Amino acid sequence: MSDIKPAADTFTPALGQHWLTPLYDVAIRTLTRESVWRRALANQVDPRDGDGILDVGCGTGTFLTLLANRAPKAHLVGIDPDPEVLARARLKAAKAGASIEFVQGFLLEDVVTRLGPLTKVVSSLVLHQVPLAEKLRILSLMRRALADGGEAHIADYGAQTTPLMRWLFQRTVQRLDGSENTQPNADGVLPDLMREAGFRQVEERAKIPTPTGSISIYWCAGSDLRAPRTKP
Ligand SMILES: C[S@@+](CC[C@H](N)C(=O)[O-])C[C@H]1O[C@@H](n2cnc3c(N)ncnc32)[C@H](O)[C@@H]1O
Repeated sequence: MSDIKPAADTFTPALGQHWLTPLYDVAIRTLTRESVWRRALANQVDPRDGDGILDVGCGTGTFLTLLANRAPKAHLVGIDPDPEVLARARLKAAKAGASIEFVQGFLLEDVVTRLGPLTKVVSSLVLHQVPLAEKLRILSLMRRALADGGEAHIADYGAQTTPLMRWLFQRTVQRLDGSENTQPNADGVLPDLMREAGFRQVEERAKIPTPTGSISIYWCAGSDLRAPRTKP
């Protein structure tokens, strides 16, 4: 769908370095209590067969495949700039017999327009990896992708509120991804950015301690039509 194929040096790959991508699924499984936070996120998304759901930065497609198992007739779309993770995602979906559309690229205005209004948008473990301006741009476009009454569901490293979680986050995620993009998350910037992106209702509904820092599950709704439009 997206015409632009991003160059490999224009985004941070799934595990911080392209050569580590083959290890992504096993790393997430063993180091993030994956089954706990993905189940919490999927329960919150509560996919239904009539839903149109976009996963921004879908990576290797694990979450979309989980949603497809729960709602096989939902219209599921994943977007990611990295062709290597998308190849893995397509394989995973095919093996699971899941019908999912995968698009290579960044989330841009044209993608939002072409997809049409969606009932739900999701994103997991993406925002901590991107610069502050990109966090806001992604959140603003996620909001704009939603139909009236739509919801955004986001799982990511949020405010690290205990010394142990701060230490674990520094020793793992920040070692891989650096601190420039990750520290704002650890300092708790996400809820403010979600409001700035135009969501009137923002809730952190769970905070899950993991060996790599705490992962928060956010729910956002109530589009604020006065919020500024973000340029792609
Ligand atoms: C840590 S992985 C998370 C993948 C997946 N969402 C998951 O839960 O396993 C982050 C993903 O974000 C993608 N990404 C990096 N920069 C992005 C951007 N600006 N917009 C959208 N996705 C981006 C990467 O290619 C990578 O696949």
